[in-house]
Amino acid sequence: MRKVIGVLEGDYIGPEIMKEALKILHVVEKRHHHQFEIVPLEASGKAFDRYGHHLPPATLAKAETCDALLKGPFGGPPEQMNDPKWSSVEREAILPLREHFRLYTNLRGIRSFESLFHLSPVKEHIIRDIDVLIVRELTSGMYYGEKKETVSGGERQFSDVEAYTESEIRKIAVKAFEYAKKRKKKVTLVAKSNVLKSSVLWREVVNEVAGFYPDVENDYMHVDNAAMQLILNPRQFDVLLTSNMFGDILSDEASVLPGSIGLIPSASLGDSSFGLFEPIHGSAPNIAGKNIANPISAILCVALMFTYSFGLAAEAAHIEKAVTTTLHAGYRTADLFRSGDDPQKLLGTSQMGDAIARALAEQQQ
Ligand code: IPM
Ligand code: MG
Repeated sequence: MRKVIGVLEGDYIGPEIMKEALKILHVVEKRHHHQFEIVPLEASGKAFDRYGHHLPPATLAKAETCDALLKGPFGGPPEQMNDPKWSSVEREAILPLREHFRLYTNLRGIRSFESLFHLSPVKEHIIRDIDVLIVRELTSGMYYGEKKETVSGGERQFSDVEAYTESEIRKIAVKAFEYAKKRKKKVTLVAKSNVLKSSVLWREVVNEVAGFYPDVENDYMHVDNAAMQLILNPRQFDVLLTSNMFGDILSDEASVLPGSIGLIPSASLGDSSFGLFEPIHGSAPNIAGKNIANPISAILCVALMFTYSFGLAAEAAHIEKAVTTTLHAGYRTADLFRSGDDPQKLLGTSQMGDAIARALAEQQQ
């Protein structure tokens, strides 16, 4: 298979973890005789320094020629948040990128690793065998709704509108039910229909879509309860369908279940096979340049890209298995390391990439 992959390496730890993701990509490429052409794309901090723009038009034009995009985290250190280089990177790069390619479906899968149960703040019997797929709407809702700044009586008022159309809800709901059909056949819609009109519409439209999927269970939960249930009993969830804003919050919450946010990739998809694949964590300026960041989230992004954009399910499974084997063998990056662990198996970013590449090469295929 020949594919063109656009790479937005991101800021701070971005380039370090992306390098390991590409290392794994190339191992699979050789082994399975694929041809992956890598197209570096300039964005975020470095693009701002060079062009005064976080997402230059040339980057978007080149990205359009790619089959899929791998993206590292964008963003700067908290103490520089007022610097124009960082103050608007989300609004000027991340959101427009999602919108430009109409990537309205964001998938965040939460599974636990047996060898990392002890890292979770939640007890082992609760997180054992969790497999939650968060399906987050990604190109509408409060993130993209009308933003207003008014002054009345000498006081400023800012507002962000949460608005959804029926067709926006229908499209993402269909995706959720399609994924559920191939999984444990349950969709839980999470909203706040006791208070928000937009949530009432979500319930109505999701019920309508559910009618076309008689073998998929259709469940509803208010978001406050869902936040609690994710910790009390995450195994009750299969597909968790929700809006942009609620999905942002609940996915960070759910990410603590496996033990480190450094393990979790995400896929952003539209109506074609084109997708954007990125870790759910930030650029971690405090640990950048030290070769200590965990590259697993970025490596698992490659697996998601294989699954969702290229239809290479077997290759994706090999990568996922190599990660599991490496963790099972006791290898740890600093975020996963605890006292009592074997210090010989504490690995840097690139060494973790090497260990996973080795596990991949040693697999019987
Ligand atoms: C995420 C991030 C982004 C979001 C930010 C960086 C704009 O938190 O992907 O979850 O809120 O969508
Ligand atoms: Mg987030």
